Amino acid sequence: MIVVCGGIKGGGGKTTIATNLAVMRSLAGRDVLCVDADEQDSASDFAVVRNEELSGKAGFTAVKLRGAAVRSEAINMAPKYDDVIIDAGGRDSSGHRAALSVADIYLVPIFPGSFDIWTLEAVSRLIEEASAINERLKAISFLNRADAQGSENEEAAEIVKSTVGLTYLDYPIGFRKAFRKAAASGKAVVEYKPKDKKAVEEIQRLYEAVFGQIWIREER
Ligand SMILES: Nc1ncnc2c1ncn2[C@@H]1O[C@H](COP(=O)(O)OP(=O)(O)O)[C@@H](O)[C@H]1O
Ligand SMILES: [Mg+2]
Repeated sequence: MIVVCGGIKGGGGKTTIATNLAVMRSLAGRDVLCVDADEQDSASDFAVVRNEELSGKAGFTAVKLRGAAVRSEAINMAPKYDDVIIDAGGRDSSGHRAALSVADIYLVPIFPGSFDIWTLEAVSRLIEEASAINERLKAISFLNRADAQGSENEEAAEIVKSTVGLTYLDYPIGFRKAFRKAAASGKAVVEYKPKDKKAVEEIQRLYEAVFGQIWIREER
């Protein structure tokens, strides 16, 4: 399965989600390739720190790819791995489009109350264009860094639901400092101690939803 984390805005949690899912998938015994297609190199930085912390045993293979190579290399390498997780970054770049052209799942984290939601129209167009050449593509969105309370979550959820081509996944992830702290030591939040139970539960639900393709069953 090729999962692409993306969107047209920075700070929504694309790298956080991509790296957490890559670690979790590898802990589940899958052979994972994590592709950093974002110029910010954050996913690669994570892999470097993780390899330093774990004496080279990150548990997954990390590569940096840009532009059209994201597509060609993903096609070449996907058969050699169980799963490919691509951090496509937060810009409508050639690498982002290349990733979408080979993706099974496009996963778009939305930071409620931020400008993320105003970019969804552009995300919708990107999905529409990619779907024309990639009929497997399924685009799903969920709230990340969500406050426990307030109307912003519902507002953001409504905007996602009204976005053509995007399925809303009701598995929000709250604002949990553990994600940042875990990342700083090259860890996924499921590995981080002291354990943040809520963060772990939330990322596990999202993981199940994405890899168990729960939303497809919910749509029926
Ligand atoms: N659920 C969360 N709770 C708290 N902080 C988060 C959460 N998700 C991401 N962050 C933090 O927000 C910042 C931006 O996240 P990042 O994954 O780098 O976003 P993007 O890749 O979309 O630009 C990082 O400092 C990250 O640690
Ligand atoms: Mg990023």
